[in-house]
Amino acid sequence: IASHLLAYYFTELHHDQVQKVDKYLYHLRLSDETLMDVSVRFRREMDKGLCRDTNSTAAVKMLPTFVRSTPDGTEKGSFLALDLGGSNFRVLLVKVSVNGKQKVEMENQIYAIPEDLMRGNGSELFDHIADCLANFLDNLGIKNKKLPLGFTFSFPCQQTELDESILVSWTKGFKASGVEGKDVVSLLRKAIKKRGDFDIDIVAVINDTVGTMMTCGYDDHHCEIGLIVGTGTNACYMEEMRNLELVEGDEGRMCVNMEWGAFGDDGALEDLRTDFDLEIDAGSLNPGKQLFEKMISGMYMGELVRLILVKMAKEKLLFQGQTTPDLLTTGHFITSYVFAIENDKDKEGLESAEQVLQSLGLNPSVEDCIATQRVCQIVSTRAAHLCAATLVAVLRQIRDNKAAERLRTTIGVDGSVYKNHPQFARRLHKMVRRLVPDCDVRFLRSQDGSGKGAAMVTAVAYRLATQHAE
Ligand code: GLC
Repeated sequence: IASHLLAYYFTELHHDQVQKVDKYLYHLRLSDETLMDVSVRFRREMDKGLCRDTNSTAAVKMLPTFVRSTPDGTEKGSFLALDLGGSNFRVLLVKVSVNGKQKVEMENQIYAIPEDLMRGNGSELFDHIADCLANFLDNLGIKNKKLPLGFTFSFPCQQTELDESILVSWTKGFKASGVEGKDVVSLLRKAIKKRGDFDIDIVAVINDTVGTMMTCGYDDHHCEIGLIVGTGTNACYMEEMRNLELVEGDEGRMCVNMEWGAFGDDGALEDLRTDFDLEIDAGSLNPGKQLFEKMISGMYMGELVRLILVKMAKEKLLFQGQTTPDLLTTGHFITSYVFAIENDKDKEGLESAEQVLQSLGLNPSVEDCIATQRVCQIVSTRAAHLCAATLVAVLRQIRDNKAAERLRTTIGVDGSVYKNHPQFARRLHKMVRRLVPDCDVRFLRSQDGSGKGAAMVTAVAYRLATQHAE
């Protein structure tokens, strides 16, 4: 099959299919000019979120995190971490030791969260988290130790301190009742207390973007931005306290969790949203919310491709006008198909397209495979370019804060789309550099930012707390 598909590469037939899709998806292909415009709009949204008078109506919340300093290398001890809100729920034990050089060791265990708990009763969700924690401590035989814990809770939260975090609204696949508007630390403490068989010291709640920035900041002191493109998308960065009107004090910097997934929730992106974006939103758990995230992240990417394929088939532009029950079912075109279809080696990508379409019950022609690959490319390229546009706004903000001609900075990055899509990272980097040629940007992949990051923040907080106590 492979060679038979390869034979069509760079032929007229290939060219025609690409042109057909490009024309059809014209609105998903954003020019550099449009992206610059999106970047300028986002910069305005950032301002709106930072200013006291406009924050309450801002779509992009710019949440203070109370993380002010990055690790200084003297932290040590054993810390527990919980990671909720990415593709897996995990419990971790992170050991940080200093022998000349700081070293980090980890044990971690993945636990399933059944869908009915994600979308059921909030107190049952927290009971389940406490159960998993108990199981983890049992397995390691450390249930009698009262360890400090960092909680990576990757949802928008209003924080007033490092260890108080009120859930603003669920995003991604979660919708458990009775948690929005509540402090997740108290909910977790309550669930643990109810069991009564162990005790822990919850020191910090952080967003996954913050964990990513902190982990990368440990290896690269220029790191001042954390980016996630996974199930959801979001970023954080170090902002000057004087610009953070919602927090007392003007000295130094604080990390801001932007919650950029909500960009557009006030209508700011209406001219760019296509019928497919409207359809994704209408069928989601949180209609009208996280509109930017829905154009980009892994939770929606495969579904966007599916909606396009269905519409093209119905208009007889694909599959000779045929659809199948699988193709018509929500969620049946999973995002990892997009990764496979866009494989570097184009031949393998086309082969994957054929396999995927066949697994959905279709009988694709060579033309169909080429067109499907093109659809994937357009959807994921738009995602990478939109992320580039918002990142560029952040880079400009930091550069202006420093009043620097040229900015040299590092972005810590994590997330399944960034890490597993064969072209996403390259396209993102390229567009960022094209839109801000006057910044030297380094992208650093984080190694387990959510887990390690929570432990790092906890370690820093713990070090500061014990220093104060002394
Ligand atoms: C969603 C969450 C945000 C998180 C992001 C990536 O956008 O609201 O808090 O950082 O997903 O996981």
